[in-house]
Amino acid sequence: MTSHIPIIAIDGPSASGKGTVAKLIAKKLGFHYLDSGSIYRTIGYAAHMQNIPLNNEALLLKVLENIDLSFKNDQILLDSKDISEAIRTEKSGQGASEVAVHKALREAILGFQRNFEKSPGLVAEGRDMTSVVFPHAEIKIFLTASVQIRAERRYKQLISKGNPVNIHSVLNEIVLRDKRDLQRALSPLLKTKDAIEIDTDKLSISDAVDNIAHLFSLRYQTS
Ligand code: DC
Repeated sequence: MTSHIPIIAIDGPSASGKGTVAKLIAKKLGFHYLDSGSIYRTIGYAAHMQNIPLNNEALLLKVLENIDLSFKNDQILLDSKDISEAIRTEKSGQGASEVAVHKALREAILGFQRNFEKSPGLVAEGRDMTSVVFPHAEIKIFLTASVQIRAERRYKQLISKGNPVNIHSVLNEIVLRDKRDLQRALSPLLKTKDAIEIDTDKLSISDAVDNIAHLFSLRYQTS
């Protein structure tokens, strides 16, 4: 019998804070961390570099076959080049969302994502962590916030990095991405029946982290 590996799976819409929260919980518990969105972002980025249209699944699969994607500490490496910052733009988020509608592509990266399930445990975040990739996770969180709050957060984040954006276009892009991620036929963003919803509109990041860590400790003390 294989030993049990605890998994905390966190899904939620764009700019809900799930990346920051998931990373902090992983650090707190000493667990591995999977940022699944960065895989879709990297495929979109690599396709863009090769002038490959994001609606061409066959070519995107070739891109995927030929890329060497790895995570090292906080860096995302594409063929040994650090692309962590390059894939954080709003444009690459939209690109990732377009890439993410393809069935064979999603299936092709399932194994890669599941390889992160390693001792002593995993915190995985994205859109289908609770529903498709790790349906057996013992803690499932749906992290959300209103679209206005998410747009404000994303706006401040982009401005602080020196990107000249305006709040209306940021809000429109979030609405567009929500729509695509929620309405797509395959593995759409959804709150599974067994997921606990945490609304971060009025909750600080550290409170969200504490809540989830508390849920985890309750589960592990009683099992
Ligand atoms: O979490 P993020 O903003 O980095 O994700 C970028 C896009 O990738 C998101 O809009 C949809 C897609 N995605 C997905 O389809 N499934 C995941 N598990 C993670 C991200």
